[in-house]
Amino acid sequence: MERTFVMVKPDGVRNGLIGDIVSRFEKKGFTLRGIKLMHIDRPLAERHYGEHREKPFFGELVDYLTSGEVCAMVWEGKHAVANARSLIGKTNPVEAVPGTIRGDFAMDVASNVVHGSDSPENAEREISLFFGDSAAAVYLFTS
Ligand code: CMP
Repeated sequence: MERTFVMVKPDGVRNGLIGDIVSRFEKKGFTLRGIKLMHIDRPLAERHYGEHREKPFFGELVDYLTSGEVCAMVWEGKHAVANARSLIGKTNPVEAVPGTIRGDFAMDVASNVVHGSDSPENAEREISLFFGDSAAAVYLFTS
Protein backbone atom coordinates (compact mmCIF):
# COMPACT_ATOMS: atom_id res chain seq x y z
CA MET A 1 0.00 0.00 0.00
CA GLU A 2 1.24 3.50 -0.82
CA ARG A 3 0.90 6.66 1.25
CA THR A 4 0.65 10.25 0.15
CA PHE A 5 0.80 13.63 1.84
CA VAL A 6 -2.10 16.02 1.32
CA MET A 7 -2.44 19.49 2.82
CA VAL A 8 -5.46 21.77 2.84
CA LYS A 9 -3.83 25.19 2.40
CA PRO A 10 -4.79 28.37 4.31
CA ASP A 11 -7.48 29.45 1.82
CA GLY A 12 -9.07 25.99 2.00
CA VAL A 13 -9.12 26.09 5.82
CA ARG A 14 -10.45 29.69 5.87
CA ASN A 15 -13.21 28.80 3.41
CA GLY A 16 -14.39 25.79 5.44
CA LEU A 17 -13.34 23.13 2.91
CA ILE A 18 -11.60 20.59 5.20
CA GLY A 19 -14.71 18.43 5.60
CA ASP A 20 -15.50 18.43 1.89
CA ILE A 21 -11.93 17.50 0.97
CA VAL A 22 -11.69 14.73 3.61
CA SER A 23 -15.02 13.38 2.38
CA ARG A 24 -13.83 13.19 -1.23
CA PHE A 25 -10.76 11.19 -0.21
CA GLU A 26 -12.84 8.82 1.94
CA LYS A 27 -15.44 8.28 -0.80
CA LYS A 28 -12.69 7.55 -3.35
CA GLY A 29 -11.49 4.71 -1.09
CA PHE A 30 -8.45 6.16 0.67
CA THR A 31 -7.76 5.39 4.35
CA LEU A 32 -6.89 8.32 6.62
CA ARG A 33 -3.67 7.60 8.55
CA GLY A 34 -2.89 11.01 10.05
CA ILE A 35 -4.42 14.46 10.33
CA LYS A 36 -3.12 17.59 11.99
CA LEU A 37 -4.31 21.19 12.08
CA MET A 38 -1.27 23.43 12.36
CA HIS A 39 0.18 26.85 11.69
CA ILE A 40 3.44 26.26 9.87
CA ASP A 41 6.48 28.52 10.24
CA ARG A 42 8.67 29.89 7.43
CA PRO A 43 11.52 27.34 7.81
CA LEU A 44 9.08 24.42 7.43
CA ALA A 45 7.33 26.07 4.45
CA GLU A 46 10.72 26.72 2.81
CA ARG A 47 11.84 23.10 3.32
CA HIS A 48 8.54 21.74 2.06
CA TYR A 49 8.77 23.80 -1.15
CA GLY A 50 12.60 23.57 -1.41
CA GLU A 51 12.48 22.50 -5.06
CA HIS A 52 10.80 25.85 -5.94
CA ARG A 53 13.39 27.98 -4.10
CA GLU A 54 14.68 29.58 -7.35
CA LYS A 55 11.22 30.26 -8.81
CA PRO A 56 10.04 33.89 -8.95
CA PHE A 57 6.92 33.05 -6.93
CA PHE A 58 8.79 31.35 -4.05
CA GLY A 59 8.46 34.28 -1.60
CA GLU A 60 4.76 34.67 -2.37
CA LEU A 61 4.26 30.92 -1.93
CA VAL A 62 5.89 30.92 1.52
CA ASP A 63 3.94 34.06 2.58
CA TYR A 64 0.71 32.39 1.55
CA LEU A 65 1.43 29.04 3.23
CA THR A 66 2.27 30.72 6.52
CA SER A 67 -0.73 33.09 6.39
CA GLY A 68 -3.06 30.83 8.38
CA GLU A 69 -3.67 27.30 9.58
CA VAL A 70 -3.25 24.32 7.28
CA CYS A 71 -4.63 20.81 7.64
CA ALA A 72 -1.86 18.24 7.03
CA MET A 73 -2.98 14.68 6.23
CA VAL A 74 -1.59 11.26 5.39
CA TRP A 75 -3.77 9.15 3.12
CA GLU A 76 -3.13 5.50 2.23
CA GLY A 77 -4.34 3.43 -0.70
CA LYS A 78 -3.42 1.76 -3.97
CA HIS A 79 -1.45 4.16 -6.20
CA ALA A 80 -2.15 6.76 -3.52
CA VAL A 81 0.04 9.50 -5.07
CA ALA A 82 -1.45 9.26 -8.57
CA ASN A 83 -5.02 8.76 -7.34
CA ALA A 84 -4.74 11.78 -5.03
CA ARG A 85 -3.40 13.96 -7.82
CA SER A 86 -6.30 13.04 -10.08
CA LEU A 87 -8.81 13.86 -7.31
CA ILE A 88 -7.04 17.20 -6.67
CA GLY A 89 -6.79 18.26 -10.33
CA LYS A 90 -4.29 20.37 -12.27
CA THR A 91 -2.04 22.80 -10.35
CA ASN A 92 -3.52 25.79 -12.18
CA PRO A 93 -7.26 25.93 -11.33
CA VAL A 94 -7.90 27.46 -14.77
CA GLU A 95 -6.94 24.06 -16.25
CA ALA A 96 -8.45 21.90 -13.48
CA VAL A 97 -11.63 20.25 -14.70
CA PRO A 98 -14.89 20.55 -12.74
CA GLY A 99 -15.30 17.57 -10.44
CA THR A 100 -11.74 17.86 -9.18
CA ILE A 101 -11.04 19.71 -5.92
CA ARG A 102 -9.23 22.61 -7.59
CA GLY A 103 -11.71 22.58 -10.49
CA ASP A 104 -14.57 23.06 -8.02
CA PHE A 105 -13.04 25.25 -5.30
CA ALA A 106 -10.14 27.33 -6.68
CA MET A 107 -9.60 30.17 -9.16
CA ASP A 108 -5.91 31.09 -8.88
CA VAL A 109 -2.64 29.09 -9.08
CA ALA A 110 -1.19 31.04 -6.14
CA SER A 111 -4.00 29.93 -3.80
CA ASN A 112 -5.12 26.59 -5.11
CA VAL A 113 -6.71 25.16 -1.91
CA VAL A 114 -4.80 21.90 -1.60
CA HIS A 115 -1.38 20.30 -2.05
CA GLY A 116 -0.69 16.66 -2.97
CA SER A 117 2.74 15.01 -3.24
CA ASP A 118 4.02 14.51 -6.79
CA SER A 119 5.89 11.20 -6.25
CA PRO A 120 6.03 8.39 -3.66
CA GLU A 121 9.54 9.59 -2.66
CA ASN A 122 8.34 13.15 -2.08
CA ALA A 123 5.30 11.79 -0.22
CA GLU A 124 7.52 10.04 2.33
CA ARG A 125 9.79 13.11 2.59
CA GLU A 126 6.80 15.41 3.20
CA ILE A 127 5.18 12.98 5.69
CA SER A 128 8.36 12.94 7.80
CA LEU A 129 8.67 16.73 7.51
CA PHE A 130 5.15 17.33 8.83
CA PHE A 131 4.55 14.30 11.07
CA GLY A 132 7.97 12.99 12.08
CA ASP A 133 7.55 9.42 13.27
CA SER A 134 3.97 9.86 14.38
CA ALA A 135 2.02 9.79 11.09
CA ALA A 136 -0.35 7.23 12.58
CA ALA A 137 -1.53 9.64 15.28
CA VAL A 138 -4.72 11.62 14.95
CA TYR A 139 -4.45 15.06 16.55
CA LEU A 140 -7.48 16.87 17.89
CA PHE A 141 -7.08 20.58 18.56
CA THR A 142 -9.32 22.81 20.60
CA SER A 143 -8.88 26.56 20.77
P1 CMP B 1 1.45 22.83 -5.08
O1 CMP B 1 0.87 21.66 -5.77
O2 CMP B 1 1.28 22.95 -3.62
O3 CMP B 1 3.01 22.89 -5.42
C1 CMP B 1 3.74 24.05 -5.69
C2 CMP B 1 2.91 25.28 -5.62
O4 CMP B 1 3.45 26.43 -6.20
C3 CMP B 1 1.64 25.05 -6.41
O5 CMP B 1 0.81 24.14 -5.74
C4 CMP B 1 1.09 26.45 -6.56
O6 CMP B 1 0.24 26.83 -5.48
C5 CMP B 1 2.36 27.29 -6.53
N1 CMP B 1 2.59 27.90 -7.82
C6 CMP B 1 2.87 27.29 -8.97
N2 CMP B 1 2.99 28.20 -9.97
C7 CMP B 1 2.79 29.42 -9.39
C8 CMP B 1 2.78 30.76 -9.90
N3 CMP B 1 3.03 31.02 -11.18
N4 CMP B 1 2.51 31.75 -9.03
C9 CMP B 1 2.29 31.50 -7.73
N5 CMP B 1 2.28 30.23 -7.20
C10 CMP B 1 2.52 29.22 -8.03
